[in-house]
Amino acid sequence: MDVLLTRRWPAEAEAAFTDRFAAAISTDDIPLTAEQLREALTRYDVICPTVSDKLPAALFEGAQIRTKLIANYGVGFEHIDIEVCKRHGIMVSNTPGVLTDATAELALTLMLMVARRAPEGLHEAEEGRWTGWRPTHLVGTSLAGKVLGLVGYGKIARSLAVKAHAALGMRIACYARRPVTVEHGEPAVEQAASLEELLAISDVVSLHVPGGAETNGMIGAAELAAMKPGAILINTARGTVIDHAALVEALKSGHLGGAGLDVYPAEPAIPEGLIGLPNAALLPHLGSATHETRIGMGLRVLSNVEAFAKGDSLPDRVC
Ligand code: DGY
Repeated sequence: MDVLLTRRWPAEAEAAFTDRFAAAISTDDIPLTAEQLREALTRYDVICPTVSDKLPAALFEGAQIRTKLIANYGVGFEHIDIEVCKRHGIMVSNTPGVLTDATAELALTLMLMVARRAPEGLHEAEEGRWTGWRPTHLVGTSLAGKVLGLVGYGKIARSLAVKAHAALGMRIACYARRPVTVEHGEPAVEQAASLEELLAISDVVSLHVPGGAETNGMIGAAELAAMKPGAILINTARGTVIDHAALVEALKSGHLGGAGLDVYPAEPAIPEGLIGLPNAALLPHLGSATHETRIGMGLRVLSNVEAFAKGDSLPDRVC
């Protein structure tokens, strides 16, 4: 069986994989071009891509596809055209669960960075512009007792709710399409009847919906206007969920207090106007970037490839 890992993985995960399968691994660790990915579909039985490998329908057209499994290293799979995979009889798997806490921790990091104006403080200290302590210097916002509004209430949102409530004393609200029940150990959550209602009652809004056509531009000018003056927007989900031109306007006008972003619509490009805004904390897609999680993601891919090799059903089958 010929297997391709499109990027380098943490050493422990790579070793676990190569102990079991003779895999080709990208040596330069730069994203494959569309042409290279298309060729890979004709050469490998199994491809293990990441979020940086785009697999749209056009890549599959007219190619003699050999691939039978795309075992994605990551939970989000909107970069893979699932309908086309179904048509070609290609199975797709992902890595749910293992990045829940890491991503929630990063959302919390961004919330605190923005609320306490950490990016401005970091720049000032590093650039030698700090003139000393004073009562009015870089005064931020306390999160204690404030409302954290979660858009989507899946695993990552729930983990963030637990952390923000226990560590910071925040009150939790959410907008989700299905009725939400509180699981053991989770804080009470007020479920808003609409997205607009959630935006209007939240001091911090954090996005936890998948990428793809359904959520494209979900947070645009009207939704930003519906947020409380001074509120903070956090995105560790997918960049496509936000209209960034509208976000830049809302940050510049001062309607929003700030934004903490880890994901962007056309990574690694950062949308125009965001860089240099004092009230924006920008990170380069680090949600799952902990040793524990990145190893766990590799092992989860491995368990799907092992199941495929044995002809068993995949533990994390998407299609
Ligand atoms: C995912 O798994 O979808 C992440 O965005 C990559 O860490």
